[in-house]
Amino acid sequence: MAVNASWWRDAVIYEVYIRSLADGSGDGVGDIAGIRSRLPYLRDLGVDAVWITPWYPSPMVDGGYDVANYRDIDPLFGTLAEAETLIGEVHGHGMRLIVDLVPNHSSDQHPWFREALAAGPGSPQRARYVFRDGNGPDQPPNDWRSVFGGPAWTQVPGGQWYLHLFAPEQPDLNWDNPQVREEFEDILRFWLDRGVDGFRVDVAHGLIKHPDLPDLGSAQEDMVHSPDRTDHPHWDRDGVHDIFRSWRRVADSYGDDRMFVAEAWVSKPERLARYVRSDELQTAFNFDFLRCSWAADSLRSVVDSCLHAMHAVGAPTTWVLSNHDVTRHLTRYGRPRTRAEGPLHDIVEPADIELGTRRARAAVLLMLALPGSAYLYQGEELGLEEVEDLPEDVLQDPTWQRSGHKVRGRDGCRVPLPWRGSRPPFGFCREQVRPWLPQPAHWQARTAEAEEAEPESMWGLYRAALRIRRAHPALGDGTLSWVDAPAEVLVFRREPGLLCVVNLSDTPFALPGHERVLLSSEQMQNGKLSTDTAAWLQV
Ligand code: NOJ
Repeated sequence: MAVNASWWRDAVIYEVYIRSLADGSGDGVGDIAGIRSRLPYLRDLGVDAVWITPWYPSPMVDGGYDVANYRDIDPLFGTLAEAETLIGEVHGHGMRLIVDLVPNHSSDQHPWFREALAAGPGSPQRARYVFRDGNGPDQPPNDWRSVFGGPAWTQVPGGQWYLHLFAPEQPDLNWDNPQVREEFEDILRFWLDRGVDGFRVDVAHGLIKHPDLPDLGSAQEDMVHSPDRTDHPHWDRDGVHDIFRSWRRVADSYGDDRMFVAEAWVSKPERLARYVRSDELQTAFNFDFLRCSWAADSLRSVVDSCLHAMHAVGAPTTWVLSNHDVTRHLTRYGRPRTRAEGPLHDIVEPADIELGTRRARAAVLLMLALPGSAYLYQGEELGLEEVEDLPEDVLQDPTWQRSGHKVRGRDGCRVPLPWRGSRPPFGFCREQVRPWLPQPAHWQARTAEAEEAEPESMWGLYRAALRIRRAHPALGDGTLSWVDAPAEVLVFRREPGLLCVVNLSDTPFALPGHERVLLSSEQMQNGKLSTDTAAWLQV
């Protein structure tokens, strides 16, 4: 690997939701063998790094975000030796690898939690989690709610309750306990020793709880609607930053090219900037961009406020449109309301897939022209939409059960990828095997094989954009300057010599003067950019 300490400042990072990329073992679930077989595809697409969602031993109550052992690989996905081989192969292809760290909670099958149950109230084993007596007979200690629905507390035999901001099978760790801190520093070293380039930090804004665990009162908040207050009892508390400073020291001891990206759903960019101060995590997902409506003024103001906040602390901005927790942006953009509320909160409305596709093509040119680093979610390069008609009996997201079958959850963005052929499983797994979630039959036109043969496909657009982005000196890290344009048209300049134009208005927009069109999301009409179209111009 070429040494480039700040590679993460402008990297394009591809999210691999491991259960759904490709199945190599023949059980219908994606795995390490599947990822290994697709590395040439990812290299050819032109991404700089891959982030792999949790692959640790897990009962899979929450798709692996319930970790029973942080230092091994679940047999469903492979072995530790295979993971080490994969890390080497990713590097061999000139890419980097980021693993998912889940520090807010473990699985209830983690040995620590089993020991805590066995040891009883007041024991050092219980002090690694958040156990409390109830607030009266059968009354939990406070009124906090789980992100997945229902109370955030579960009672154990003997009467005490434990906290779980997510499913009951995901007990929250007690980050005020030095043993927990030591353990996670050691887990970081375990994976850094194996050559990983970074960590995606799950629920980074949730680790520290108010010591008195006060009631929230009537204003219940969930993971993505962190209120604009600094004293929330479990989201975005100041105490989390000490933890990240200590992690930064661990990572830096391996060289300055190891990085973190925080998943922190906070109220505003200024709060997010606190996670990426110079002695904390280098980067954080920018969910304001993901949640923004497809409207020029909103996009412009999100871009400005995020760039401004990150610039103030010297950190790069990241950009992301989709991930394994939210409705795919192609579907969102095809709805009357294009805004994503965030995980588990999306509006279910009919989507115009043709319109969504057109906007998604423009959106990726916008995103990849912005200063900083960008995250792609597997399948968006194929133009996959959210699968909204999965039969109820296949739904696996814990939200479905926890909400009393009211909220379907996130399975619709997690459907296994289509690779080749004319019918399911489209090369995701062997012919005779059923993928863990069913794929729509019409994905025949969305397979990687079909799209690679078609330069005008979504895949063709992504590949062309990533090639230009890598080669053009104006793209990647840096700054932008807005150019005057009609209200519903975004035009900004990157130096040297690149103009990005996105037309969100109802009328065709005549391109400003330029040397040549480097790339456009649709064919130009008489030198004009039609509605919901973007272009990169050499000027
Ligand atoms: C955020 C992850 O992205 C999501 O999939 C998971 O359910 C929660 N954190 C809990 O770990």
